Amino acid sequence: MAKYKPSERVTISDRKWPDNRIEKAPVWCSVDLRDGNQALASPLTVEQKLSFFDLLVKIGFRQIEVGFPSASPTEYEFIRRLIDEKRIPADVVIQVLCQAREPLIRTTMEAIKGAPAAIFHMYNSTSPAQRKYTFNKTKDEIRDIAVEGVKLVRKHLALAGNTPVRLEYSPESFSATEPEYAVEICQAVMDVWYPEGAPKGPRSVEGKIILNLPSTVESASPNVYADQIEYFCRHIRDRDSAVISLHTHNDRGTGVAAAELGLLAGAERVEGTLFGNGERTGNLDILNLAMNLFSEGVETGLDFSDIRGVTRIYTELTGMPVHPRHPYAGELVFTAFSGSHQDAIRKAFARRKAEAKENPGAELLWDVPYLLIDPKDVDREYEEIIRINSQSGKGGAAWVLEQEYGIFMPRAMQPVFGAAVTASADSSGRELSAGEIFALFERNWLKPANAALSVTDIAETHLDNSEVSCRATVNWQGRNCFIGGKGNGPLDAFVRALGDALRETGVPEFTVTAFHEHSVGSGSSTDAMAYVEITLADGRTFWGCGRSSNVGRAGISAVVSAVNNVV
Ligand code: KIV
Ligand code: ZN
Repeated sequence: MAKYKPSERVTISDRKWPDNRIEKAPVWCSVDLRDGNQALASPLTVEQKLSFFDLLVKIGFRQIEVGFPSASPTEYEFIRRLIDEKRIPADVVIQVLCQAREPLIRTTMEAIKGAPAAIFHMYNSTSPAQRKYTFNKTKDEIRDIAVEGVKLVRKHLALAGNTPVRLEYSPESFSATEPEYAVEICQAVMDVWYPEGAPKGPRSVEGKIILNLPSTVESASPNVYADQIEYFCRHIRDRDSAVISLHTHNDRGTGVAAAELGLLAGAERVEGTLFGNGERTGNLDILNLAMNLFSEGVETGLDFSDIRGVTRIYTELTGMPVHPRHPYAGELVFTAFSGSHQDAIRKAFARRKAEAKENPGAELLWDVPYLLIDPKDVDREYEEIIRINSQSGKGGAAWVLEQEYGIFMPRAMQPVFGAAVTASADSSGRELSAGEIFALFERNWLKPANAALSVTDIAETHLDNSEVSCRATVNWQGRNCFIGGKGNGPLDAFVRALGDALRETGVPEFTVTAFHEHSVGSGSSTDAMAYVEITLADGRTFWGCGRSSNVGRAGISAVVSAVNNVV
């Protein structure tokens, strides 16, 4: 295909970045209010920008690009309101974007006057396509735009009053620019920003120059961007006098990956937006990147513990939806639909609960299958993790009863229960809620309606020889029968009484082949929950469940429930 060509490679043979690790969070700079805002169908109003700014501060951003004040009166007014109404916390630095043109530089300086501190972000385009189509200028002429622009920034610093101003320079379309030429321009910018003879590196309050290296349009795989960043870091003179910043876009869907590899390659700062909102396919999704680091135990300095709150405010302000499968924030990201996933999660939760009991106070390493992070860390609920549909398998539904209702069904009963849940989900054609699953359990096992067998009256007497005698009136298919029997406990006595009256009652003959019980609830409302399996003469088995404040009665109810399931 002649229309497209493979991306250019960087000449770097002994690249180091593949062996590096990100052990420290980068400096985060939000560009939501500039790059993100400019990509909205309805850009934010001043009031909306103020709310967004507060959200960004609350999350923990300490560098926030607040706009392009020379480009729009709304942006100028917003920045003035931030400053005049003293809305900028002392430790937050605002950043303003500007082209390398004198009138714009003057207006931008006036816009930031009085701010606690500011980053003046100047950019010009440097790629061959931009040089050819947009500017029709040579490499030297393009470099001169940058150099003259920085001189003008220096010249007009006084217009910002006492506000300490730090310079950020972006060779726009860096990733499509020849690497040695990008170094040449940035070097020239540094040389004019740091006055001759002045010590390089952090200069009092202004701080180091920021060299921001955008993939304005993402056009190669992330490893190529990483090579470009490593090349740049190695070749820029006075590397220690600059902060290397990344600004990725997402045209190939790898904006986050490119930023991650760029950090491995030596960058120290990133620019991006919440949920990656930005031109075309968006900017670096800063929430995604920060949470990726969080998932590897890196302190990020950004607080997404209320991820729903962040999502809600973001959606309200921008009008942009968040995809249900958006990493970390999407509605479905902590939901398992597959039965085998649910089973693994359920087992892991049970085991971890036991381990936590054995080691009180110890923080357990997160290693739950299928869940990258603990949903709790972003204020998501366990109950959202599993929803039951016809694909969920036996374990999932039982897990819901355990988690939501404290009902621990024996393993052998789970397939029977799971089949009933699957049939119900199949016929409704949708997921079942926890409430619907419990209702199904109640309807089929705990309190069956129109039951063939019911107990209308019952009394047990404990005899001397640790025997129990049971007398009861049972109703079988509308007919009352009086039964009586003895056994080694109330359940046994009732089963024998029922068995002795088979002919009279017509109840099918059975033996109890499994019995389980546990307590449910707490304090004065603690009940016994009993599960009984009966086996008929023809070998068929049926489960029944009973709940009562009296252990013996719970067992008897479970037998009655099992018999009712035969009919
Ligand atoms: O994507 C880009 O190149 C930009 C620059 C202005 C930094 O947004
Ligand atoms: Zn951008």
